Amino acid sequence: MKRDILKTLKAEHDELRDLFKELKATTDRGVKKRQGLLEQIEAALIPHAKWEEKVLYPAFKERADRDGLQTHAEAVAEHHAVENSVIPEVHAAEPGTPEFAGRTKVFGELIEHHAKEEEDTMFKMARKMFSAEERAQLDEDYEAWKTSDGAAATLAAEKAKAGMKGAVRALTH
Ligand SMILES: [Fe+2]
Ligand SMILES: [Fe+2]
Repeated sequence: MKRDILKTLKAEHDELRDLFKELKATTDRGVKKRQGLLEQIEAALIPHAKWEEKVLYPAFKERADRDGLQTHAEAVAEHHAVENSVIPEVHAAEPGTPEFAGRTKVFGELIEHHAKEEEDTMFKMARKMFSAEERAQLDEDYEAWKTSDGAAATLAAEKAKAGMKGAVRALTH
């Protein structure tokens, strides 16, 4: 079977769903577990989101009709909400607290909403916009990028940014 970027991204959504389910099942006493799961979630989510933003979304936008442009705008706005608001709030909470539990629950709910919308709307449109060959090529490009220094640097930079924003939020709220 041919590889397909849309299948890879869907599989990564499912991986994130599982991680959020595990996180939701933790208690305030499971500090190490919560920290470990949050690490895993960020390691899975950040390269996924950054590659969508840098490669998939612009390619999608170029071929989109009016509905597609709206779908694109929604997706970008959701990425921004997660990056600029939800993740910093999570970082501003101590893992052994109800605040952490509440904020990571919202984090998981937003990711679920966003992933479902991508799968049900954007990826459906993308399947028509891009040929099987193009989707296979995108999948290869994505795999190559994920193991590159660029991806590692992006992950480190985004995590540093989230930590900093979280620290500012913890001081000012
Ligand atoms: Fe996305
Ligand atoms: Fe996605």
